[in-house]
Amino acid sequence: MSATLASFFYLVAAAAFILGLKQLQSPVTARRGNQLAALGMLIAIVVTLLLTDIISPWIVVAGLVVGGAVGGFLARTVEMTAMPQLVAAFNGFGGGASALVAAAEFLTSDALPLRTDITIVLSTVIGAVTFSGSFVAFGKLQGLVSGQPVGYPGQRFGDALLAAAVIGLGVWVVVGGSTPAFWLLVLAALTLGVVRVLPIGGADMPVVISFLNAFSGIAASMAGFVIESNALIISGALVGASGLILTNIMVKAMNRSLGNVLFGAFGAAAMEGGPGAIGEKPVRSATADDAAVTLAYADSVIVVPGYGLAVAQAQHNLKELANLLEERNVDVRYAIHPVAGRMPGHMNVLLAEADVEYDKLYDLDQIQEDFPRSDVALVVGANDVVNPGARDDETSPIFGMPILDVDKATTCIVIKRSLSPGFAGIDNPLFYLDNTLMFFSDAKRAMTDLVAAVKEA
Ligand code: TAP
Repeated sequence: MSATLASFFYLVAAAAFILGLKQLQSPVTARRGNQLAALGMLIAIVVTLLLTDIISPWIVVAGLVVGGAVGGFLARTVEMTAMPQLVAAFNGFGGGASALVAAAEFLTSDALPLRTDITIVLSTVIGAVTFSGSFVAFGKLQGLVSGQPVGYPGQRFGDALLAAAVIGLGVWVVVGGSTPAFWLLVLAALTLGVVRVLPIGGADMPVVISFLNAFSGIAASMAGFVIESNALIISGALVGASGLILTNIMVKAMNRSLGNVLFGAFGAAAMEGGPGAIGEKPVRSATADDAAVTLAYADSVIVVPGYGLAVAQAQHNLKELANLLEERNVDVRYAIHPVAGRMPGHMNVLLAEADVEYDKLYDLDQIQEDFPRSDVALVVGANDVVNPGARDDETSPIFGMPILDVDKATTCIVIKRSLSPGFAGIDNPLFYLDNTLMFFSDAKRAMTDLVAAVKEA
């Protein structure tokens, strides 16, 4: 294939990535956007492998079949709640691949221009840090590595020394072209990824994963400069930029700074403080019948879904309950907190699965003012995102995180199995308020019971 034709196809692939990303903006077009971007990736891979006669077309086809089968299997079987781990693993492979591309170029070429040497070092370092850091993050989320912050005495000094060693070795590789220095650089960068992610608590892992996602994009972009591939430069830049935007959205929604997440060990603070005196104060608990009567005779209900809804896979039953209420002329809307669940858009995806109409989903800013005017706020498996302590209690570890003001509704019904804390590991004053009814149950069970009880009401 000629270089001009390849450049044309790369342009087509890049356009597919950008248009695909654009379509991801709306749930209506997201599926098509994803398919378009995947098609762009297929074009880019095939063109690259045909352009330079590296391997036979049959090996390319075999790779596509095996890779496509593994990817298709994972996409179909991985639970929605395990998506952050999957993304972590993908990031790790992405970073590792970029480091390998750069390493291959370094080890097989003799004299390279200075700028290529610099991009080789950057791609190797960022790719190796992403690789090892992502697999530590994967291990934490999968429960293979302790979710608690793990550190060593004098960590800050040790990490700074390691970072200095990485810079020094990088300069040595660029200036001297030394192969042993290159391997030492790889080793130091891999170690840096491990020691930087281990001290971060499991609670902050999704942010770290998003940040490493940006890193994998930057590494790919650098690798694109190394092998002069426009497609790689563009796709890497898109991943890098979108990863950084997502990281920013997540830390903002948790009212944290990136520095605080990466160096502050929030998980440690929450765990040191412990859940507090959970369950020692009285709560008003309700049965399915109590909750059903409150819901059935309400004019307006705002549903607040959270992580527990996803775990229980109760979205279809929730929709059934909402349908029943709507038949009784109750206005039912859904309030979506930006960090409800365990990944951005988690609740949107879940509710879309159950065919909840998009125009019934409201962002925090759109619906916040409506809680005081609502009869019922129905909290299903959410906890931290409705913790009034984040708004009112300066000593709360999550103070300042925007929350949904469910406590301002006339009645707040909270469905969860116990008084156990959520992700942040802290107690929730909402449970003890006079206008809160605690309906202790698994979310799916609760929805089934409520559907039956509303039919009777
Ligand atoms: P959480 O605060 O984690 O609370 C979820 C609650 O669901 C738990 O308290 C649990 O209580 C309940 N639950 C679990 N299984 C259940 C089941 N089968 N049926 C009913 N309830 C069940 O969830 P949230 O309010 O969605 O907040 C999300 C948290 O994750 C925030 O702290 C956020 O900062 C953090 N986070 C989110 C993201 C993104 S991007 N979404 C990223 C990083 C961090 P019981 O055990 O008593 O049932």
